[in-house]
Amino acid sequence: MISKKMTVTINQQINAELYSAYLYFAFSSYASHTGLTGTATWFWVQGQEEMTHAWRFYNYLNNVGEHAVLDAIAKPPATFKSMQHMFEETLKHERKVTALINNLVNLAVQEKDHASREMLQWFVKEQVEEEKNVTDILGKLKLAGPGNGALFLIDKELGARVFVMPLDLAGAATA
Ligand code: FEO
Repeated sequence: MISKKMTVTINQQINAELYSAYLYFAFSSYASHTGLTGTATWFWVQGQEEMTHAWRFYNYLNNVGEHAVLDAIAKPPATFKSMQHMFEETLKHERKVTALINNLVNLAVQEKDHASREMLQWFVKEQVEEEKNVTDILGKLKLAGPGNGALFLIDKELGARVFVMPLDLAGAATA
């Protein structure tokens, strides 16, 4: 049995994950527009992964007899200063998402909601991974400095990222 408060907070998290997807698609579009095709690919994949995060919460609510309710998604910014700026904003954003996930875990513990706590463990691990990936990219960008040659190489490396649909989300709506 899931509480109303947990249901409302998970619904807010669905919106936060969908906003994350919107934000990363905006980065992807801007990167593509400025010729950073590898960066565009990296953010495109990142946006798709965020969609799957939203689906995980959506499926969870529907699977526990509740109702995933979709709210309006805020408009993301459309232009950015540089590649480094986009990744700095990404790290800032992911840290905010980590705080939201931690709040959800705190609520699950407080409510002795073991099912939600178990479901949230996947997200706890995912946030560690997400922050690390972006921190690594920022480290390379800082090492590379302002020269375009190194930037080109990093952009090329980022372009190798591929989206893989998690098998547990590939089938029915409430898998
Ligand atoms: Fe869904 Fe990037 O956190």
